[in-house]
Amino acid sequence: MLLQIPEVLSPAELAEVRRIIDAAPWTDGNATSGFQAALAKRNEQLALDGAAAKAAGAIVTAALERSALFASAALPHTVLAPLFNRYGAGHGFANHVDNAIRQNPATGRRIRTDLSATLFLSPAESYDGGELTIEDAYGVHSVKLEAGDLVLYPATSLHHVTPVTRGVRVASFFWIQSLVRSDAHRTALFDMDVAIQRLGQAVGQGDASIVSLTGTYHNLLRLWAET
Ligand code: NI
Repeated sequence: MLLQIPEVLSPAELAEVRRIIDAAPWTDGNATSGFQAALAKRNEQLALDGAAAKAAGAIVTAALERSALFASAALPHTVLAPLFNRYGAGHGFANHVDNAIRQNPATGRRIRTDLSATLFLSPAESYDGGELTIEDAYGVHSVKLEAGDLVLYPATSLHHVTPVTRGVRVASFFWIQSLVRSDAHRTALFDMDVAIQRLGQAVGQGDASIVSLTGTYHNLLRLWAET
C-alpha cells in the first residue's frame, strides 16, 4: 500500500523544523547508504546523531504519534528516528531498494524495515524535479507533496528521486518496523479499519455490527501481529 497522509505537521511545527534544520551543518548524504546506494546517491544529509536532527526529529515523532491514519496504516512496532535530507540543483537518487535491516541508534537493536516514509518539508512549487518515484505491482507512482505531508510505502519497493533542476527539496525520511510484516495483511487490516470507521459514523459506534467487525479486526491482528 502506498498512502499519502496530509498535514502530518502543523504550520507551526513545519516552521520550527525548518528553523532548526536550515541553521544546521549538512554533510554528504552517503553516511546512511549501503555500498550500492552510495554509487547512485547525490544529496546532503544532517548528521545522524547531531543536535539538529534530534530536535527536529522529536517534533516529527510527536506529530506522528497523534496521527490516527499513520497508526492504522503502519501498525508501528518501532519507528526509527527521523533523518533529514536535502537535494539541490543536480542532486538526485537513482533507483534502489532500501536496506532490509537497520540498527536503531536509540536501543542498539536491529529492526526490519517494513515501511519507508518521506515527509516533505519544502513547498512543492519552490523546486522543480525531486519527485519520489515508487514502483509497485500497480505501476510507477510519482509523488511530490506539499510541505508537512507524508507518504508511506512498502520498503520492498524500488524507488528513486528524480534530479532537482531548480530550488531545493528538503525532506525527512525514516523507516518503520510494523507489527504486521506482510504488506498484504497490513493493507487488509487498514481497509477494514477504514470501513469500520465509516460504518460507525453511519450506524453509531455501539451498533452490534461494529462490535462484531471490531472483534474480527482484532482477531486478524492477533493472527498476523509479531511483537
Ligand atoms: Ni531509499
